[in-house]
Amino acid sequence: MHATLITGASMGIGEAFAREFARRGNSLVLVARSGDRLAAIAEELRSRKVEVLVCRQDLSRPDAPDRVHDFCLTNSITIDILVNCAGLSHASDFSAISPEKVEELMSVNMLSLARMSRLFAADMAAEKKGGIINIASITGLQGVPGLGLYAATKAFVLSLTEAMHEELKEHGVKVSAVCPGFIDTGFFQTAGHERTNAILPFSTPEVVVKAALKGLMKNRMRVYPTMLDAILSFSGRLVPRDTAVRLAGFLSGARGN
Ligand SMILES: NC(=O)c1ccc[n+]([C@@H]2O[C@H](COP(=O)([O-])OP(=O)(O)OC[C@H]3O[C@@H](n4cnc5c(N)ncnc54)[C@H](OP(=O)(O)O)[C@@H]3O)[C@@H](O)[C@H]2O)c1
Repeated sequence: MHATLITGASMGIGEAFAREFARRGNSLVLVARSGDRLAAIAEELRSRKVEVLVCRQDLSRPDAPDRVHDFCLTNSITIDILVNCAGLSHASDFSAISPEKVEELMSVNMLSLARMSRLFAADMAAEKKGGIINIASITGLQGVPGLGLYAATKAFVLSLTEAMHEELKEHGVKVSAVCPGFIDTGFFQTAGHERTNAILPFSTPEVVVKAALKGLMKNRMRVYPTMLDAILSFSGRLVPRDTAVRLAGFLSGARGN
């Protein structure tokens, strides 16, 4: 069976990806920790006559990507599209974050994404086709006071994805980094980030999904889901770097405004 694999599919943007791919008739492998939520989403999507498998994994564990890959091999599933969407943030000055949170954020946002990408990119390159969507963020474009570690993990995602985009082109594999601004999900609550302090407007997960799929189809290296995201990216290059950093901190409101 050929399928689309989505990490972080239990809620928010990942769930929206699952719904859109199901609407397009793709078979799915859904990955996250919340087994009950994944099971409920899978059951609902199966009623639309698509095959949906749930692979419950904690992606902060170093062996999780291998387990996901083994799950696909065991079930004879070839992954055509990988969406690395699982991620978390933590609103705090860097010096105040606990060592455990540093570990968790870097493991889920960077290490698991890198390992998942490496495992499935190799399979796709062997098949000479496939696509990878890595969910980055506009916070990855510069340091963000109050969200320093999170922003740094997203800079990693952007940089790695850009290199993969070029490397895998010649193997027939498309790779895009998606850079959303603020999206209306439970993400802020999990991060302890008071969303009413954010200056930027919120968009929807569906806007991200639509832009990501269009971007991947055209094999865009970077995808900005809204015009505002693109403007912020461009304008950040026109001002001195320290101004861009201060502005990003102000717009995020992570340290309170
Ligand atoms: N919301 C925004 O404003 C925004 C903006 C830019 C980029 N993004 C990025 O978009 C992605 C999705 O965010 P979202 O807004 O949809 O957030 P969300 O609603 O909080 O969803 C996060 C997803 O990641 C999964 N996840 C977190 N830790 C995990 C772990 N240890 N193992 C496996 N899965 C884990 C969660 O599943 P379980 O809890 O069930 O494990 C959940 O499905 C993230 O990469 C985020 O950085 C979000």
